[in-house]
Amino acid sequence: MSNDPKPPASGLRRNLTSYGDPGFSLFLRKAFIKAAGFSDDALDRPIVGITNTFSDFNPCHGNVPRLIEAVKRGVMLAGGLPMEFPTISIHESFASPTSMFLRNLMAMDTEEMIRAQPMDAVVLIGGCDKTVPAQLMAAVSADVPAIQLITGPMLVGYHKGEMLGACTDCRRLWGHHRAGAMDQDEVEVVSGRLAPTQGTCMVMGTASTMGCLVEALGIALPGTGSIPATHADRIRAAEASGRQAVMLAKSGTRPSEVLTEAAFRNAMVVLQAIGGSTNGLVHLAAIARRRGIKIDLEEFDQIGRKVPVLVDLKPSGAQYMEHFHWAGGVPRLMQELRDHLALDAVTITGATIGAIADAAEDVPGQTTIRSRDNPLKVTGAMAILRGNLAPLGAVIKHSAASPELLQHTGRAVVFESVEDLVTRIDDPDLDVTADDILVLRNAGPKGAPGMPEAGYLPIPRKLAQAGVKDMVRMSDARMSGTAFGTIVLHIAPESATGGPLGLVRNGDQIRLDVPERRLELLVDEDELGRRAKEWQPPAHLTEEHRGYRGLYLRSVLQADEGCDFDFS
Ligand code: FES
Repeated sequence: MSNDPKPPASGLRRNLTSYGDPGFSLFLRKAFIKAAGFSDDALDRPIVGITNTFSDFNPCHGNVPRLIEAVKRGVMLAGGLPMEFPTISIHESFASPTSMFLRNLMAMDTEEMIRAQPMDAVVLIGGCDKTVPAQLMAAVSADVPAIQLITGPMLVGYHKGEMLGACTDCRRLWGHHRAGAMDQDEVEVVSGRLAPTQGTCMVMGTASTMGCLVEALGIALPGTGSIPATHADRIRAAEASGRQAVMLAKSGTRPSEVLTEAAFRNAMVVLQAIGGSTNGLVHLAAIARRRGIKIDLEEFDQIGRKVPVLVDLKPSGAQYMEHFHWAGGVPRLMQELRDHLALDAVTITGATIGAIADAAEDVPGQTTIRSRDNPLKVTGAMAILRGNLAPLGAVIKHSAASPELLQHTGRAVVFESVEDLVTRIDDPDLDVTADDILVLRNAGPKGAPGMPEAGYLPIPRKLAQAGVKDMVRMSDARMSGTAFGTIVLHIAPESATGGPLGLVRNGDQIRLDVPERRLELLVDEDELGRRAKEWQPPAHLTEEHRGYRGLYLRSVLQADEGCDFDFS
């Protein structure tokens, strides 16, 4: 008798429903699936699950039905059986209070559906900011062979001959409107031109950032993260992802084998070099944490001191994702970054990152992916700040900040909450000058709750009308990856849990020193001690909450741990 362990169950035999009789469970499962017209031959094939994240509320996923069709074709051409299943879909502008509040719910939903249903591999179709992080968190925890397929960025729009894109230009043009330089009629026209096709925001916001990171992590097919949503190549990428999923189902290669420490380090290098979204760092921390790996913020900062920004995309630069794609995309970028990457990291195809970089297309004359000799910025996109105002760290995207404000001492003008900000920011009597520092608190993971993208505090109207384009702003909130400005984010611990941000008072002096990586509240220790004794948490954190909101408020972690749930 052989001592070999029993091979793991595959196909319909996986994850049987518990009736106390496995034979009956399989018999019943077959009986029900045959009601859908499947043959025994089909049911004997490797099963590839495909997440359906289509929603009328999510235009960034408008092409998902066509992608699913192509993934299914690829699965069947490779001899597998595709099985589509629904999960939650989240769009940035259609999620209240915030999409971040729901990211962990999507991760739980996706993980449990992968775990509960019989699939030998899964194709995760996502795109809008929180969907890809949620799916990767789920894939790591379920640890079923997985491949990420991105929905892809939108094409650019035009207005009065100027190239436009969501959503760096949404914020810029809204700023013009607030300053009185664009009337309501023109705003309405522009709203139809900023997002002219299906797909995700086409600047280097969070969606584009995650599209690049999935290639650097090796969990998506090379070159597929940046293909525009509406291109035929996007459909072909879906078909190829379906084929690859069958290979993964047969080989059994799990996300835990691909998402190694080397893969996360490569992702950090690419995140710095693309001028990526600050949200990308939070999501990377959450995905890595599921894998038992800690994203070391100091290491990330050190990488940023050596790795330049090479991609000329808004908001750090001037171009858009379709230009990046035609310039050679992530493989071409990784060729430029060879010296910083773990080239032997193996991807889901079996090819190494080094081999993918070597095979990158060279596009003569392209200007989107710079050479190391001619970087867009000589250092990386982001810096990690520490100091008595951010004991667990804060982040600034200095590649998209005003250089003259990166060392700045100013008077604090404090807003207690997002509501307080909305009420007072445009008050003509607000005591504020361009040299002040705008401080927003109670906007972190628990404070808001849901860590809204409110860190991009608007310039007070009276200053905007006087021509002020940027000021130092800081908060425990997040910011859209598409935004520009001298903005400190993710201050941890957040104010609502007793972090020092909650002790700042109007008129205090604050020192921001990005070259030294410092963020200091210039108030003596004794005074801060007195203020700490008087500090009270926000009312909603002293009350009982039911349902998902209760679970979220009890369990969400701080930004440095990716804002995942403590039990995940
Ligand atoms: Fe979906 Fe920007 S709103 S990617």
